[in-house]
Amino acid sequence: MGKVCSFIALAMILALANSFLGNARDPDILKDFLIPTGLDPSNITSQFFTYTGFRELVNVNTTGKTAAIETKASMKEFPALEGQAVSIAALTYPPSGINPPHVHPRAAELLIVLQGVLEVGANAGTVSLPNTVFASGISAEILAKAFKTDLETISKLIAANNITKAA
Ligand SMILES: *[C@@H]1O[C@H](CO)[C@@H](O)[C@H](O)[C@H]1NC(C)=O
Ligand SMILES: *[C@@H]1O[C@H](CO)[C@@H](O)[C@H](O)[C@H]1NC(C)=O
Ligand SMILES: *[C@@H]1O[C@H](CO)[C@@H](O)[C@H](O)[C@H]1NC(C)=O
Repeated sequence: MGKVCSFIALAMILALANSFLGNARDPDILKDFLIPTGLDPSNITSQFFTYTGFRELVNVNTTGKTAAIETKASMKEFPALEGQAVSIAALTYPPSGINPPHVHPRAAELLIVLQGVLEVGANAGTVSLPNTVFASGISAEILAKAFKTDLETISKLIAANNITKAA
């Protein structure tokens, strides 16, 4: 049996407090942590601040997958994150696997590649989705896989968004 070679990247998502106008922002964090509804404060121990979900990463099976498998530590899986405006996710990519192009409104993302090679594209500042996706230089093969469509369709979208196209 051939061992499946997989890429693991770790993505940390942080919310930006001042992303829009000065008076249109998320409130500042006022407490170190929030006690989830229904949990007795006296029951909060070091266990509450310990997340063990990523131990499963050693067993992630990417056979037959094309998209990355996501293991999350968001508020749902790790209640200690409530009110912290932060979450973390580990993505296990199958060989040549993809994570479809997407945006995180009002948030920033930090990606750390732990193993393998990851091709990423980002355009800080003004984000025009057709330009950043179809005129970004991301290969047509990756885009076709990401949008679950064929090369012909993607090629048309790339041609339509070709900013160097002769007028
Ligand atoms: C608090 O912990 C005790 C002992 O582990 C348990 O019996 C009880 O149900 C817990 N209460 C809440 C509200 O979580
Ligand atoms: C991994 O997943 C494939 C496809 O579902 C399956 O055939 C294979 O047995 C799995 N391998 C392990 C080690 O679980
Ligand atoms: C964009 O248009 C220019 C000019 O017609 C052409 O040379 C170039 O190959 C096109 N690029 C893509 C990615 O289609």
